Amino acid sequence: MIGGEGQVARSLREAAAGDAGIVFRCSGRSEVDLLQPSSIGKALADFRPDVVINPAAYTAVDKAESEPDAAFAINRDGARAVAGAAAEQGVPVVHFSTDYVFDGRKTGAYVETDPVVPRSVYGRSKRDGELAVAEANPRHVILRTSWVYAPFGSNFVRTMLRLAAERDRLSVVDDQMGCPTYAPDIAAATVAIAAKIRGANWRDDYAGVTHLAGPDAVTWRGFARQIVAGAAARGGRVVPVDPILTSDYPTPAARPANSQLSTARLASVFGLHLRPLTLSLNDCLDRLLQIRMGERH
Ligand SMILES: NC(=O)c1ccc[n+]([C@@H]2O[C@H](COP(=O)([O-])OP(=O)(O)OC[C@H]3O[C@@H](n4cnc5c(N)ncnc54)[C@H](OP(=O)(O)O)[C@@H]3O)[C@@H](O)[C@H]2O)c1
Repeated sequence: MIGGEGQVARSLREAAAGDAGIVFRCSGRSEVDLLQPSSIGKALADFRPDVVINPAAYTAVDKAESEPDAAFAINRDGARAVAGAAAEQGVPVVHFSTDYVFDGRKTGAYVETDPVVPRSVYGRSKRDGELAVAEANPRHVILRTSWVYAPFGSNFVRTMLRLAAERDRLSVVDDQMGCPTYAPDIAAATVAIAAKIRGANWRDDYAGVTHLAGPDAVTWRGFARQIVAGAAARGGRVVPVDPILTSDYPTPAARPANSQLSTARLASVFGLHLRPLTLSLNDCLDRLLQIRMGERH
């Protein structure tokens, strides 16, 4: 697996550590740098994995607007190099992409065959990464995920908890709708997928893009309200969360107004379902706030 302390990378390390059947090697940037293709080939030749998993990416959505070269170098060229190095070893690659490949104009959930029309540099770099990975390795599983959160790393849940502790009211965008996805759930599904696709188990219908996202769609404000309520239930402050429009909170990168992802293919091809938001968010808040509900009584 390539990626050091990223949300999905760290969750994958945790998931693999809990499974005695997996020999897992995680290569951080000091060992495998997506900007140094030779480092990728060397690490794979040394370890000889059954499956290569690549959650490393340039993920700074707004910063990418002013650093397009860096975003494309990592998300397109680096992704291609990883997929190509896996192909040279004769093994499949699992790659991650984003809901931000869509423009958000669709009503309802996006399916994998919907046209991709990214609205940002980050989205375009990830779309080109999808194409590059597919071209470089016929055995590719591209998992498009969305609104990723975890008990660690930089994410919306941690930001809301910090702001709720600092401010008396919060204002959060209420006209963007998406599916929050818990990184440990992504990791559990990815480990299951890796087991399915390794060696002689590979089937051609595994190849392509598959959406891997939480089953519940919310707006950012709706998500914030659930986070604040969950924190309050664990002894935190009750803070009102006011709705605002995207136009009230301008950002360098444009984001899709709707990026709900249908996970019907995840269920039909891989037989997987992710947990409801309430369960995953509870798990995240328990880990973050380190107060188990049962311990309070
Ligand atoms: N976060 C989201 O909301 C979201 C939504 C949809 C899709 N995704 C996709 O899901 C995947 C995982 O995202 P995440 O949230 O886990 O990302 P993350 O927490 O931002 O972690 C990204 C990781 O990539 C590593 N990385 C960046 N440049 C690298 C390079 N040149 N060589 C090696 N490693 C490099 C970073 O290493 P350093 O720590 O050394 O910088 C970091 O560990 C990505 O493909 C992302 O595009 C994320």
